[in-house]
Amino acid sequence: MILALETSCDETAAALVTNAGEILANVVASQADLHARYGGVVPEVASRRHLELVMPVVREALGERTLDDVDRVAVTRGPGLIGALLVGLQAAKVIAWARRLPFVPVDHLHGHIASLYLQPEPLEPPFLCLLASGGHTLLLDVQEHARYRVLGTTLDDAAGEAFDKGARLLGLGYPGGAAIDRLAGEGDPDAFSFPVARVPGLDFSFSGVKTALLYVARDLDGELDRRRADLAAGYQRAIVRALVERTTEAAEAIGAEKVAVVGGVAANSALRAALAGATFAPLALCTDNAAMIGSAARFAEAVPYPRYLGLDAYASSG
Ligand code: KG4
Ligand code: ZN
Repeated sequence: MILALETSCDETAAALVTNAGEILANVVASQADLHARYGGVVPEVASRRHLELVMPVVREALGERTLDDVDRVAVTRGPGLIGALLVGLQAAKVIAWARRLPFVPVDHLHGHIASLYLQPEPLEPPFLCLLASGGHTLLLDVQEHARYRVLGTTLDDAAGEAFDKGARLLGLGYPGGAAIDRLAGEGDPDAFSFPVARVPGLDFSFSGVKTALLYVARDLDGELDRRRADLAAGYQRAIVRALVERTTEAAEAIGAEKVAVVGGVAANSALRAALAGATFAPLALCTDNAAMIGSAARFAEAVPYPRYLGLDAYASSG
């Protein structure tokens, strides 16, 4: 059994996952409310909150079980907010060290991909993976469970970031992806047309569409309130269209037979409808969680006791 922790951004999470990929417990304490009034995650506030929540969340994940039942401890090592990562990393080290358990450092992106490897319907590589979250937008050629190649990435904002910034412009609060999704359902996606930048290769660019929304919203002025749903629908359509186009192109480019979508934006209902043939991560595993980290740990190398004590976190990939 693997005990996994995840604290890379504003979710404090712990999970118990078996070697076969069954989720026994998956606890996520979101700090979203805490950061909402700032309109985004405040790193120092996040670190402090992780510190308060990490042990209660681990205890809740263990439930009736004890650390006697655990044979490996996994944790997100990066990328993410460095102070937030360090809280989870140190907590995991202490737990593993106290029990002389092996330790599995996990890359957060590998974690998102591994959300597809859990029971009851694990996806087998190879597949093309669109990873779209608040911090990343990547097209990945996943060749084996723990081996993948980056085909494309965003040149500016991540897709989730574009949703969040759009939501902020529309006065929908933080984080705004789910709010845009909901409101778009009541709007007409053809009422406004937002341009989708097409950059060379298999990369993405979302800063233009955000600026376009800003200008349209500004011109509407007093009418903004009445047109909010239409704006949300048009804006969402533009982002989803860009994601779908590039994903389809990438699938053709590598001759992928399977396409999968993971990360917070994979929860988007319009994206799920537009890529109906693709495998989507289960809704509960789209946004950050520790079950996906435990899942990735099954395919990553464990560091034996006590060699992991000196491991550091990393804020960015590469
Ligand atoms: O994977 P995640 O929890 O965090 C990162 O690793 O970045 O993704 C969070 C992102 C946020 O930007 C949030 O607005 C977006 O996922 N999101 C959505 C939806 N639910 C969450 N975006 C669009 N539609 C949704 N339903
Ligand atoms: Zn994430």
